[in-house]
Amino acid sequence: MSKVRIYTLAKDLGVDNNKMLEMLDGLGVSYKSVSSTIEEDTVELIKQLLAEEAESAPAAPAQTADAAQAAPQAAPAPADAPTPSPAPEAATTAEDTGAPHRAPVVTIMGHVDHGKTSLLDYIRKTRVAAKEAGGITQHVGAFEAQTSKGKIVFIDTPGHEAFTTIRARGANVADIAIIVIAADDSLMPQTREAIAHAQAAKVPMIVAINKVDLPQADPERVKTDLTQLNLVPEEYGGDLVVVPVSAKTGEGVEDLLEYISLTAELEDLRADPKGTFSGVVIEGRVDKQAGVLATVMVQEGTLHVGDFLVVGEGYGKIKAMTDSAGGRIKEAGPSTPVQILGFSEVPASGEQVQSAKNEHAAREVIAGRAQTRRDTEAARERRKLTLEDMMGP
Ligand code: GTP
Ligand code: MG
Repeated sequence: MSKVRIYTLAKDLGVDNNKMLEMLDGLGVSYKSVSSTIEEDTVELIKQLLAEEAESAPAAPAQTADAAQAAPQAAPAPADAPTPSPAPEAATTAEDTGAPHRAPVVTIMGHVDHGKTSLLDYIRKTRVAAKEAGGITQHVGAFEAQTSKGKIVFIDTPGHEAFTTIRARGANVADIAIIVIAADDSLMPQTREAIAHAQAAKVPMIVAINKVDLPQADPERVKTDLTQLNLVPEEYGGDLVVVPVSAKTGEGVEDLLEYISLTAELEDLRADPKGTFSGVVIEGRVDKQAGVLATVMVQEGTLHVGDFLVVGEGYGKIKAMTDSAGGRIKEAGPSTPVQILGFSEVPASGEQVQSAKNEHAAREVIAGRAQTRRDTEAARERRKLTLEDMMGP
């Protein structure tokens, strides 16, 4: 054993990642992220510290409270350790944490033909349990993958289209961006564009160097090229996570999923399933048989069949919902992409979706929005006229 990644060590020792980082801070060891590597000496020190802590833990309740604070989701304490009665600190923490964790929403971007769809297909095939089709689904622009670390939601849309249009409307659906770069092609114009989008949205980025199975693959070149953009891979001392993968052989895909989960863990993503519903339209379309279908990402609260929804100046009542595997569902909580049947008009990507108590309430919201729009238009028209007056004939 030589160098060890922090999160691997944390996992091996059954310690929360944040706790591991705290310990490293305590030792004055510098690191960039949980995927940075640390020296063997440090590993030994950490083990010693943990052993000492374990010895003194039952006698020091303050320490136990600390541990609970650092790792609210940690594995249950060993049977021989007394269950700590909730200390005041622990109670405060419970308040602070608020809403429960939600799954990360990940978008895949990159240059044409670098393998975005192939990579998603591979993940989908290996990670999405096929369900019986519910009748109205042929295509959902997002899917949920089950991993050893929990659910990950991927948004599967051509190019950066969805990402940009959605962001242009002021909504951020993605928590993490995967930038796919083909190992035989390196950085291309759309790669730079994708990176710029992710940076502008302040979304953490993970680079997947794809097609490493090809004989002409040159992952090192990709890393060097990234460095030129001031994106320094971890192994070069930076903090950019770079994962070599092959959508063809599946190599590295598990690592990629692991990195996504780790990034999500650090982002501490939360949403309240019991809160007021809000969501974003991923895409809308007309199905010849079913009618208007919209894929909506639930961001807060829970959607139920029968709920009234308002989008822009349109509204609808949910007649049916399917999950990304095509199964009919009755309700959907945060970080769930659902296909909804029941809108009267096709909603635009990136539109915010809200719920209304009933049809009357939905109509009121829409009337208010229409009025605001007319007022704005009228004001714009008046400004135009005034300008024309000033300019003269
Ligand atoms: P656009 O949607 O057009 O932007 O392309 P994309 O990024 O979705 O790429 P796509 O998945 O369509 O892959 C493009 C080509 O690369 C296809 O011929 C794939 O079979 C091939 N390809 C994708 N990933 C790999 C890989 O890991 N290894 C190899 N050898 N070929 C791959
Ligand atoms: Mg594609």
